[in-house]
Amino acid sequence: MSAPSTQPELTARGLTRAFPHPDGPLPVLKGVDLDVAAGELVTVSGRSGSGKSALFALLCGFDRPDSGTVTVRGRVVDSAPPWRDCAVLPQALGLSAELTLAENVALPLRLSGDSADVDARVADVLGELGIGALGDRYPGEVSYGQQQRAALARAAVGRPAVLLADEPTAHLDHGSIPAVLGLLRRVADTGTAVLVATHHDQVHTIADRRLALVEGRIAA
Ligand SMILES: Nc1ncnc2c1ncn2[C@@H]1O[C@H](COP(=O)(O)OP(=O)(O)O)[C@@H](O)[C@H]1O
Ligand SMILES: [Mg+2]
Repeated sequence: MSAPSTQPELTARGLTRAFPHPDGPLPVLKGVDLDVAAGELVTVSGRSGSGKSALFALLCGFDRPDSGTVTVRGRVVDSAPPWRDCAVLPQALGLSAELTLAENVALPLRLSGDSADVDARVADVLGELGIGALGDRYPGEVSYGQQQRAALARAAVGRPAVLLADEPTAHLDHGSIPAVLGLLRRVADTGTAVLVATHHDQVHTIADRRLALVEGRIAA
């Protein structure tokens, strides 16, 4: 009988990425290693411009590293994995302006053919995030913080294996933060590997492990 797999859901090994700059290539990531296991919630802090969003773009396959490897569920990421394997709350949100909040949140379920109880599941997650009354509104009709919660709902609704949340509290009023932190923690507790980039100290209170991105590398 083989031993149970202990492979983390998300791994990064030796990731490097430089960006063009007038003074020559700007090395932003200089060898990033990290692991996130199923059921674990890990936070990554780092000053603005330290490369958190650049790292997340590599982890979800939106961008390619100059060197190094990302795996999701043991498979090397060479293009964006299916959303049910790795779902993302990008810093720029990326909601479709043509769809209501509820339609945006339903999209990953409909695209993956996971269409059982879509309306109820969408309503549940919107309600959990305190925007249950806004499902019929378009992104342009709600605040940026409400859009951000809808984008988090879209990432969480399909119970992905890996959830990446880039600055999930950046645009929220203080009253909305507990619901967002509660959802992230619940998603991890149901088995998802959750990685959160943040510079809000309050977010670290829900972390199992806390990392920092310093000078292009991960410091514990
Ligand atoms: N696509 C890009 N092209 C050029 N420079 C970039 C690009 N993405 C990020 N950078 C640069 O990389 C650095 C890190 O940016 P970012 O990852 O957004 O930091 P953080 O999310 O930690 O605030 C910044 O200096 C930024 O200007
Ligand atoms: Mg960022």
